[in-house]
Amino acid sequence: MTAPKKLFIKTYGCQMNVYDSERMAEALGGQGYIETQSAEDADMILLNTCHIREKAAEKVYSELGRFRGLKAANPDLKIGVAGCVAQAEGEEIMRRQPLVDLVVGPQSYHRLPEMEAKTRAGEKALDTDFPEEDKFEKLKARPKAKRGPTAFLTVQEGCDKFCAFCVVPYTRGAEVSRPVDRILTEARDLVERGVREITLLGQNVNAYHGAGPDGDWSLARLIWALNDVDGLERIRFTTSHPNDMADDLIEAHADCPKLMPYLHLPVQSGSDRILKRMNRSHTAESYLRLIERLRAARPDLHMSGDFIVGFPEETEQDFQDTLALVEAVQYGSAFSFKYSTRPGTPAAERPQVDEAEKDDRLQRLQALLTRQQRALQDAMVGREVGVLFEKPGRLPGQMVGKSDYLHAVHVDSDVVVPGDLARVRILSSGPNSLAGEVLPR
Ligand code: 5AD
Ligand code: SF4
Repeated sequence: MTAPKKLFIKTYGCQMNVYDSERMAEALGGQGYIETQSAEDADMILLNTCHIREKAAEKVYSELGRFRGLKAANPDLKIGVAGCVAQAEGEEIMRRQPLVDLVVGPQSYHRLPEMEAKTRAGEKALDTDFPEEDKFEKLKARPKAKRGPTAFLTVQEGCDKFCAFCVVPYTRGAEVSRPVDRILTEARDLVERGVREITLLGQNVNAYHGAGPDGDWSLARLIWALNDVDGLERIRFTTSHPNDMADDLIEAHADCPKLMPYLHLPVQSGSDRILKRMNRSHTAESYLRLIERLRAARPDLHMSGDFIVGFPEETEQDFQDTLALVEAVQYGSAFSFKYSTRPGTPAAERPQVDEAEKDDRLQRLQALLTRQQRALQDAMVGREVGVLFEKPGRLPGQMVGKSDYLHAVHVDSDVVVPGDLARVRILSSGPNSLAGEVLPR
């Protein structure tokens, strides 16, 4: 028997890439690969890349350059680029970095085994098609390997919204939803393998409209069906668009026992002038009304969001409107970015905001968001909350998990094991996590 070949995958960007990396590792598992945590002893290195901001793409090229020595030491080493940079730049990657043997876009991962074989025959392999066949069906996990307590499950891909700053509609293509039965089968399989919490993924997850047994199902219907899966304890979903927040999904936040009280709902800006230029088709006011309805359904809902500062033509007043919206919402967590020019998107052609101004606005926004996040986290002290434990903590004797609201929580490790869902009383709040004690059942 030949020794297994070793695969090193480095994942950049969103959770969808994390999910895709797992599927790629499984697909190459069928070719005799096992995963390794170090690039040094790998027979194949795959970078699963992100193209959302300029820096993300540049990081990939500098990382690739660093593999030169490894390839010199091991001429059999194959280097591949997957993900959205692969989709967006295709052959350009091989031209710019001759070390690369394989370039595969997100819609072609099921073709990886053939592509790998091609590289072993000494050829270069490139596939950035948007094929007709169902890649997920072809990427099904073979071994019933045990899993950790939490898992991602992609239910929808692509986006038709065309926000003026965003590459996703180009790199991930048009919006497509997976059929209900495939998702439920995958969810049951995950639960059999030890998973207790599933996060449903999609670039526009709440636009989900997959084929069900009796016509198209909404995301809310899918969540209710998952609620009936025995052994599954928690359901989350990300990322949502304000315009697709349907009534049945808002109601699910009130009534569905396994749906967690946390919602990532990017707004991007608090200025209607900028939102319009971003092609967001909602206003600051409509977003705030929506959150009011969500909080009426689920008063303790923790809100999360994404923000872009320094979008073309953003003035100080526009930025002040963003700060005002943040004050009104009170976010439990948030991600904020400087606008980054993406070639081929409409906003790339417009008058740009000065870089130093962008830096300054980002700092001010992040200071506010951090204050809010910390205040909401500190307010957990003294409360009881559900925690799903995942792994040992950084310090000896600790076990860490996530609260219903997605806070990191640590407790003494001798009382729980990974996979336990326990009631915890929160005792103190640190910079990035909460400490608590497990309550008797
Ligand atoms: N520049 C900066 N941030 C961006 N995002 C998407 N495109 C860009 C861009 N060109 C941010 C948005 C989105 C998140 C995933 O990344 O806030 O919600
Ligand atoms: Fe990009 Fe999200 Fe806008 Fe789609 S809705 S274009 S993924 S920011």
